[in-house]
Amino acid sequence: MASEKPYLAVTCTAPVNIAVIKYWGKRDEELILPINSSLSVTLHQDQLKTTTTAVISKDFTEDRIWLNGREEDIGQPRIQACLREIRRLARKRRSGDEEDPLPLSLNYKVHVASVNNFPTAAGLASSASGYACLAYALAQVYGVESDLSEVARRGSGSACRSLYGGFVEWQMGEQADGKDSVARQVAPELHWPELRVLILVVSAEKKLTGSTVGMQTSVETSPLLRFRAEAVVPARMAEMIRYVKERNFQGFGELTMKDSNQFHATCLDTFPPISYLNDTSRRIIHLVHRFNAHHGQTKVAYTFDAGPNAVIFTLDDTVAEFVAAVRHSFPPESNGDKFLKGLPVKPGPLSDELKAALGMDPTPGGIKYIIATQVGPGPQILDHPHAHLLGPDSLPKPTV
Ligand code: DP6
Repeated sequence: MASEKPYLAVTCTAPVNIAVIKYWGKRDEELILPINSSLSVTLHQDQLKTTTTAVISKDFTEDRIWLNGREEDIGQPRIQACLREIRRLARKRRSGDEEDPLPLSLNYKVHVASVNNFPTAAGLASSASGYACLAYALAQVYGVESDLSEVARRGSGSACRSLYGGFVEWQMGEQADGKDSVARQVAPELHWPELRVLILVVSAEKKLTGSTVGMQTSVETSPLLRFRAEAVVPARMAEMIRYVKERNFQGFGELTMKDSNQFHATCLDTFPPISYLNDTSRRIIHLVHRFNAHHGQTKVAYTFDAGPNAVIFTLDDTVAEFVAAVRHSFPPESNGDKFLKGLPVKPGPLSDELKAALGMDPTPGGIKYIIATQVGPGPQILDHPHAHLLGPDSLPKPTV
């Protein structure tokens, strides 16, 4: 049956990324062009990823999309922008191309299904991995081989950074059409093997202000944000790239914390003010600084996005002790054995000196759980047909 209709199905995965120099503010809302460059670390897909299947067929009468098993409105402007952009790139390629293995596929409608292996409710950003995966999967079925920054970016700015593994820079660009606003890899996945990432999941509550609206208000009202974009970020980008290349954790960690703090300062400078951090976030900040002071150097660093969850960077030799300090300060409330997910962490020692240095009363249940992960690769194509999220009827397979 399948052989009588031109039909193409591809399944891909894409990673989450976490910015260490933050993107906050657009100079063009439609094209999603930022007011400053940003830099991120791609997290490993063993712990966090989006999986997306795209199917094109001449028999489809309309484009359709399912997210985590539920059909969504394909008319959403950002999804439409991605679809338009990928078809434009495909057309451009075909017009300059001698051979086209799928001459009609451009006109085919697409079915897309996408799932995350992490709970969206955990407050972890899913739009970056989601739109990167959408762009990547669409590129496979429509035969696009050019840079996908623009396609992913039109879905969500930070998504263009999830198109690569390792350490990734999103260059803001200067052109009005955004052609030079692209992501590029600064260092590959295996460049800094000792680097570890701990996600401290603080709250599953839905945030009050989404990033898109938040950054819009900041651009309109915060003089600090403008100052940051013009006078601070350019030098910080160069500095951060140097620290990454040199694998200088002291420099990397300190600048990561400073940039997170400045981003949240611009949120407070926004009018009406935006606050993404909560009491637990602030306790984590305190804990990190006390931990570092005890060791007389930057051994761990925090960064926070548009929510209260902390992302911690550290080196493999420090993970066990820091996790012990977190357990001490935020005793797990109920499911003790599930407190730590992801990469295994050996139970670590916590000296009385360090305990005393932390100087904090424990906050039981403040942190729900920790996901331990590391730097990871960019999007991948899954070869097995059973990986497809859409069945032979091109509808989502029932989830188990
Ligand atoms: C705080 O990429 O989610 O995580 O482009 O409007 O979709 P839109 O915003 P989004 O913003 C991310 C903001 C951030 C910082 C960062 O990832 O650089």
